[in-house]
Amino acid sequence: MSAPQVKIVEVGPRDGLQNESTPLTPQQKAELINDLAKSGITHIEAGSFVSPKWVPQMADSEQVFDLIERVTGVTYSALTPNLRGFEAALKCHVDEVAIFTSASESFTQKNINCSIAESIERFIPVLEAARQHNIPVRGYVSCVLGCPYEGNISHQAVLEVSQKLRELGCHEISLGDTIGVGTSRQTKSLLQALIPELGAETLAVHFHDTYGQAIANIDQSLDLGIRIIDASVAGLGGCPYAKGASGNVATEDVIYMLEGNGIHTGVDINKLVEAGSKISRVLNRPNGSKAGTALSHK
Ligand code: HMG
Ligand code: MG
Repeated sequence: MSAPQVKIVEVGPRDGLQNESTPLTPQQKAELINDLAKSGITHIEAGSFVSPKWVPQMADSEQVFDLIERVTGVTYSALTPNLRGFEAALKCHVDEVAIFTSASESFTQKNINCSIAESIERFIPVLEAARQHNIPVRGYVSCVLGCPYEGNISHQAVLEVSQKLRELGCHEISLGDTIGVGTSRQTKSLLQALIPELGAETLAVHFHDTYGQAIANIDQSLDLGIRIIDASVAGLGGCPYAKGASGNVATEDVIYMLEGNGIHTGVDINKLVEAGSKISRVLNRPNGSKAGTALSHK
């Protein structure tokens, strides 16, 4: 089988589950992660080493990592907002970590309790430690197409923080439409501003699907050369900063679109759909993937 033409970063066990109100056991979370790996997903954000007061859903990430059946060739990553988080992640033998900040001052303050500049300072020791341990670091930039507090965010603000993360040593920058407000032309305009400065190869797109725009935005991103896509099985999640919002774009919908367009992903959609149906049952919530719902009724 030829190599996948896109990299899918599955963020459901982290971005999805951090926003689900039904509590899961570490075993249930690990089972989801194992199911995803068996479907052919090769990059899984499996947890988060943040303050349990801020995000109680992720308080058991250490136990989750202990329970994962590691599959060779699969990268298991976690969010680490500071050195303490990085050290906890290291003990769990993560393959990669992610740091996260935002293009909006207000959002950064609400999410990680500091300014953008302070967040960058806080990341310096994380990057240093990661380099010593040979752990790749992904950088997230939130609010790239809008902020729940500030509204419009300039492309320049996104570019500046992305460049800082790149200078720190992040091998990949994930551009987050955190509240899912962006449309395809806005996506095009942003990427046309960023790609000449940063290159398309190491940029990822991370769309929440609040306004149903994610698939159109991903298609637009692909046209502009983006090859790294974040997605969440069954569209798990929501957004604590936008009540009633849906989660990330559903991985099943992304795979369906890519394969339908002749783009090889290496993912077995039927196994992925099973994983999505199963976790939706466990959470007692409707499946947030349209492709998943359709395929599971065939
Ligand atoms: P703080 O209050 O400014 O910092 O929080 P602090 O150092 O004073 O620590 C506060 C408490 O947290 C202390 O405990 C620390 O010990 C503890 P207390 O003394 O009160 O009992 N603490 C920790 N505990 C566990 N692990 C740690 C850790 N660090 C401190 N690593 C901090 C700053 C960053 C810690 C906090 O704001 C935090 O944890 N925020 C997490 C926010 C978060 O996880 N948000 C969701 C992920 S981001 C996202 O979803 C967006 C993304 O998907 C992209 C997109 O969609 O745009 C990535
Ligand atoms: Mg997100």
